[in-house]
Amino acid sequence: MKVIVAKDYEELSERAFEIMKAVVQNNPQAVLGLATGSTPLGLYQKMVKDHEREGTSYQKIRTVNLDEYAGLGPENDQSYAYFMKKNLFDGIGIPPENTHIENGLAGDTEAECARYNALLSDLRQDIQLLGIGSNGHIAFNEPGTPFSSETHVVELAESTIRDNSRLFEREEDVPRRAFTMGLKNIMNAEKILVLANGANKAKAVRGLVEGEITERLPASVLRMHPDCTLIVDEDAASLLS
Ligand code: GLP
Repeated sequence: MKVIVAKDYEELSERAFEIMKAVVQNNPQAVLGLATGSTPLGLYQKMVKDHEREGTSYQKIRTVNLDEYAGLGPENDQSYAYFMKKNLFDGIGIPPENTHIENGLAGDTEAECARYNALLSDLRQDIQLLGIGSNGHIAFNEPGTPFSSETHVVELAESTIRDNSRLFEREEDVPRRAFTMGLKNIMNAEKILVLANGANKAKAVRGLVEGEITERLPASVLRMHPDCTLIVDEDAASLLS
């Protein structure tokens, strides 16, 4: 795993943008695996600005997102579908039919997971972008998730519900369940780009870079990937030796 320490969030977002832009330029039909959360927002703003100023085209790009809350549809402003539309898709002119995410409203969750796994085997990610949870989760693969997992429905960890409650009016409003790509779906990507900023990620980052490769820290699976880059700011890197 290649580790880049950026001096701050701005530099982290710029380095991530350079990597993402190279993928889009090398292959205008690339499949981008995308993530939600506050971490990738700086990168997404740079992609939007670049699209506006330089005309980088997303007409033929396809996207697959990591995860979605169970019970929330794309009209709900807390859903990840809504987040992606607002923070990236509307700003880069990508045809909506080229963007994919699990259907949070699916009644038959098993069928929905099977549909998404089939889609992912057709649309292998040229790059998969990831944030990391403070407990070392990637997407919504919580500690204990098998490395062999594919798309599934998870019960969110209490710490994740707490972390994510900052984005909801009340903690009770955070959905308890979510659809997520599995670790095997993530590892299938050609290239992986992990971003982490802030002191609350320092422990998970240390585990990812220097700890044991273990299902107790789902992100540690990434050390087995042949082309994984981690970009951290100085705060997130503060516990690295
Ligand atoms: C969330 C998401 C993850 C995200 C992580 C970190 O629960 N499911 O995909 O990477 O937690 O979020 P943030 O970037 O807001 O710290």
